[in-house]
Amino acid sequence: MDHRTGDVRPTALASTRDAIVSVRSLSKRYGDVIVLDDLTFTLEEGTVTGFLGPNGAGKTTTLRLLLGLAAPSSGQALVFGHRYQDLDSPVRRVGAVLDVHDLHPARSGREHLRVLALAAGIPDSRVEEALAMVELEAAADRRVRTYSLGMRQRLGLAGALLGEPRLLVLDEPANGLDPAGMQWLRAMLRGFAERGGAVLVSSHVLAEVGQTVDQVLILHRGRLAASGPLDQLTADGQTLEEVYLAITSKVAA
Ligand SMILES: Nc1ncnc2c1ncn2[C@@H]1O[C@H](COP(=O)(O)OP(=O)(O)OP(=O)(O)O)[C@@H](O)[C@H]1O
Ligand SMILES: [Mg+2]
Repeated sequence: MDHRTGDVRPTALASTRDAIVSVRSLSKRYGDVIVLDDLTFTLEEGTVTGFLGPNGAGKTTTLRLLLGLAAPSSGQALVFGHRYQDLDSPVRRVGAVLDVHDLHPARSGREHLRVLALAAGIPDSRVEEALAMVELEAAADRRVRTYSLGMRQRLGLAGALLGEPRLLVLDEPANGLDPAGMQWLRAMLRGFAERGGAVLVSSHVLAEVGQTVDQVLILHRGRLAASGPLDQLTADGQTLEEVYLAITSKVAA
């Protein structure tokens, strides 16, 4: 950066630091029910963000809106400055795991990944790399209907990593993973962020979140109840669980 051009520096800084995720005044209603109410947050590169909140708070809905699987009632949910559906090659930019029960039951894990790769113009060699990354090679030729929950999570993660994206959007990926899988996931997410990626990961496993993320968003009844760096939220010696329970036990008027 040219330090002599002091006047234009803020603009340059803003453009090089474009948010990977930008959610602005996002609201979603289903009929008369307001599921998301005026949600605003941004995610920068190099961060792992835990997305927390009670059952029904609106986490999955937010992730679905980010991935273009549902339309906002108002506001915006942008990835790399665009709506997901307007991205050129979304699989190469955003890796997502939302519903691991939504996999084709009669396909093998390897076939599942090959179909994804073919659709995205990704070579089969990358399928083998992704299978190895999630340590699913031994089960790769078994039909997905015979997979355990943890194996489905691993397959979902392999699919998300296939296109070497810069953003990972994961809905409760720790659910069903064994301790070794959790440890792997933690290291994978940290490494992903260190290489300049961003991760948005929902979870109810607060102890795990506390070890993995550097910032949190706490959603409560469709509203952002708290957000910020983990070390700031827990600065006065409270655990993440204590902070979370204090926030989410507040009764809305
Ligand atoms: N397609 C839909 N039609 C009507 N209501 C919906 C629909 N999808 C979600 N909802 C409602 O939106 C609210 C938020 O659901 P959502 O799945 O986003 O919660 P969540 O935070 O992911 O919860 P959990 O922790 O249980 O996964 C719930 O009240 C749910 O019933
Ligand atoms: Mg959910």
